[in-house]
Order: sequence, then structure tokens, then C-alpha cells
Amino acid sequence: MSSSNSDPGQLAVDNVRTLAPYVPGKPIEELERELGITGIIKLASNENPFGPSPNALAAMHATLSDAWLYPDGSGYVLKQKLAATLGVTVEQITLGNGSNDVLVLLAEAFLKPGLEAVYSRYAFAVYPIAVQATGATGVIAEALPAGSPMHLGHDLDAMRRAITDRTRVVFIANPNNPTGTYVGAHELHAFIKSVPGHVIVALDEAYYEYAGGLDIQNGIQWLDEFPNLVVLRTFSKAYGLAGLRVGYAVSHPSVAGMLNRVRQAFNVSSVALAGAAAALEDVAHVAAAVKVAVAERVRVAERLHTMGTPCLPSAGNFLLLHAGANAREKFDALLRKGIIVRPVANYQLPEHLRVTLGTVEQNDRFLSAWEA
Ligand SMILES: Cc1ncc(COP(=O)(O)O)c(C=O)c1O
Repeated sequence: MSSSNSDPGQLAVDNVRTLAPYVPGKPIEELERELGITGIIKLASNENPFGPSPNALAAMHATLSDAWLYPDGSGYVLKQKLAATLGVTVEQITLGNGSNDVLVLLAEAFLKPGLEAVYSRYAFAVYPIAVQATGATGVIAEALPAGSPMHLGHDLDAMRRAITDRTRVVFIANPNNPTGTYVGAHELHAFIKSVPGHVIVALDEAYYEYAGGLDIQNGIQWLDEFPNLVVLRTFSKAYGLAGLRVGYAVSHPSVAGMLNRVRQAFNVSSVALAGAAAALEDVAHVAAAVKVAVAERVRVAERLHTMGTPCLPSAGNFLLLHAGANAREKFDALLRKGIIVRPVANYQLPEHLRVTLGTVEQNDRFLSAWEA
């Protein structure tokens, strides 16, 4: 028998072979290559168009000549600053290569074949991937129905009903990506209270900073009350550091201890640690970016509404538009005008498009192109 194998990838375990990979937003360079045009704007990955704080840039530059040294694997300085800012202890913090990394650590530490994780129908795409990669079973709770003010958003009652003795993790994105929908503080509190102690509640607050006066709870304030609660945050959105890859979880120290066991020893680079620590201190820079996004969220939604394109309510730096049956054609037409938005057919939402709120000028360019 020949020892050659023309498709060695098929040797991968079943749950990995059947995984649908994550579909990222189209990079600007790719569209430049395809269409040979310049001046492209990307409103496709919920990035912050105002970029990093100048202080973060300076801190990152200052680390470069030390790039031959491994980073501080404990993330001492960043954790100290986060602990002081958030009012928690360093033992409660787990740093990740983006909060995506921490989501994967949670799945690795708490799931295995035979166990279940619950998430909502249109929840962030990384949850099913992280769950399935462990061989555990992802259990989908149906989203809120048409007619509900948060249509397509998390139905916490349905999620509660989906929890069984086999459930170990329930994922809640507040607000959720790609829908932008959110759950109110009172309702969320009642839900977490109802979750049995054998289930970790992963509360993903990637867009927390964009709450802008909406009824979005700071989950970190509930950690003392709920030892099974894990709150995830990121530097990728409001802090404008998506390319740097830094996120973190705040949890009970015993949960952090378990995440630390499966974490790669040097999962956050020295540049990222320095950039994030400096960014955390530039409160004004974050506030300025958030102010624009929150105001634009209202303005762009209203303009779209008057053009006959409804959007879901959003507590993030993006809007989910009901573009209609020809959403894909509209996406392609925008591409030809140098505007990259995000199709969400991979979420089984083929009639919707997700648009990140950019600068006022970028949003105006999108709106004019949409109207045309
Ligand atoms: C809800 C949600 N959680 C987590 C992430 C992961 O972000 P990162 O890995 O950049 O921290 C994202 C990114 O889009 C997100 O939308």
C-alpha cells in the first residue's frame, strides 16, 4: 500500500473537518488588487476609524528594539493597569491575543465531547467555531421573532430553556455582533441569576464602550454576585487596536486560573502589551471616537430609514441593515465604488448587510452610494 496521502487534511478529527471557517471582512489591499482602484474605505470589520491613541503608538515604538526578548508572559503592567481601572484584582484577569483568544481558552478549559454550550441563533460566529473545535455540542437558542423590538437578538428565555445538565458554557454578546441588538440590565441580571452554578456565563462585552446611554450593564460589577460569570472585553474596537490583538476576560480567580493553564505562555506580544497599557490611559482619545460613533449610529440609521432601508437597533459601532433580496448585488455595487461593507449570509442572513460606522465623511460616502 502506498504511504502517500493526497488529502492529508482529511486526517483531521471529525469536528474540525466539518467546521465552517470564520469569514473575515474583505481587506482593502485585496479590493485594490481586484479593481485597481484607490481611496477605498472599509466599513466591514467594526474597526475604529480614528485608530490608536498617539500615546499607544509611542509606547509601541519604544518596545521595538526589545523585540528579541520574549514578552512578559504574565502581562504584569497591563494587568495592574486594568485591575486599577476596572476595580478588580490582577488574579481575576486573563489576557488574550484578542478576546477571540480568550473565547477559545474558555471553550478549551470548560468543554469536551458530550458537553454542551448554548448561544443564540445569530450570535457572534466565533462561538460555534470555538465550541465545535473542542468536540462539544453547540446548542442554538432561537432568536427573538419578527415584531419584537430586538428582532434577531438574544431571546434569554429561549437560552435559559436550552440549558441542561450537560451545559457548561452559555455565550451572551451584549451587544451582539452582527445584529447590534442588546439585552437590558434588568433582564440580563434575572437571566444570570437563573443560570445554574454548573454553567459558565460568558458575557462578551466587546462593544461595551459604545453603550452611549443605552441600558447596557457593566457586567464586571456583577462578578462578586455571580462566581460563574466571565466578562470579556477587547482593545480592538473603541481603543482602535484591532491589528494588535489584545483582549481580556475578568472572572472569578479560580476561572482565571483554569484559563491560564491552557493559555500559551506568550499569547500577547510585547508590542501589544505596551500599546494596550498606554491606550488604556488615553481616556479622552477613546471618548472622542465613541462620541462620533454613538452620534453617527443615530444619524445613519435615520437616513437609511428615510431611504426605505430599515436597520436593527444597535448598541455597537455598526448597523445591521435589511437590504432586501438583492443584498449581494448591493454589496457588489458598493465594492465597485470602493466601499467595503460586510455580507452576513454566513449567519443565514442573506438579505442583510452589516455596516461599520466610520468617520462622518466615510458614512456620508456610504450613504450617497447607498442612495444612488
Ligand atoms: C462580539 C464580539 N466578540 C469578540 C470579538 C473578537 O474581537 P477581538 O478578538 O479582536 O478582541 C468580536 C470581533 O468582531 C466581536 O464582535
